[in-house]
Amino acid sequence: MPSPTYRLGVPADAYEIAVMSRYLIEVGLRGWSWPPDRVAKAIKARETCVLAAEVRPHLVGFAIMEFGDTSAHLSLFAVKPSHQRCGVGRHMIHWLEESALTAGIAAINLELRVNNFGARTFYRMLGYKEVNYIPGYYRGVETAVRMTRDIRRAIPSAIGEKRGK
Ligand SMILES: CC(C)(COP(=O)(O)OP(=O)(O)OC[C@H]1O[C@@H](n2cnc3c(N)ncnc32)[C@H](O)[C@@H]1OP(=O)(O)O)[C@@H](O)C(=O)NCCC(=O)NCCS
Repeated sequence: MPSPTYRLGVPADAYEIAVMSRYLIEVGLRGWSWPPDRVAKAIKARETCVLAAEVRPHLVGFAIMEFGDTSAHLSLFAVKPSHQRCGVGRHMIHWLEESALTAGIAAINLELRVNNFGARTFYRMLGYKEVNYIPGYYRGVETAVRMTRDIRRAIPSAIGEKRGK
């Protein structure tokens, strides 16, 4: 399977990302909270990073992360089933964490559906901690689990490694 290339999202990606969000993240929920026009706005927004993983001519994964002053919020994140368990998700999270560190961000927060056990395992494996449950977070009916990672912990060890410590 060809390896994806990783790049910033462009307006032409909005429809494909929106469709993936509907069928991979919001599956079974009423409505469509990230239709193409909302994704297109996120792609253009200065404080939002949209990352695309592409195996031409299609996207195989994407992430939408909003940057605040000291924390960032991972709003949407998915990899197509055909490319799952190949390291694409892990690569995108590392890319986002590097960008956030460079921007002076201390922590990344996210919410996901409580019954999404695969993704909960994925985030835990990458160092994210479950901090609380939010009943009714999704359309007033489904509980979310909030997860967070203090990415600053990565800095001292990275510096130490460079100095050979
Ligand atoms: C969660 C998701 C993004 C993971 O992406 P991915 O590219 O498959 O993840 P990776 O291949 O980088 O996985 C890295 C590690 O995470 C863990 N992991 C990933 N998916 C897992 C799953 N379904 N069950 C258990 N562990 C999992 C494994 O330890 C895996 O390493 P391994 O394959 O060597 O065992 C992907 O399954 C997905 O898009 N799911 C649907 C949408 C979604 O749930 N989005 C997140 C919530 S918004």
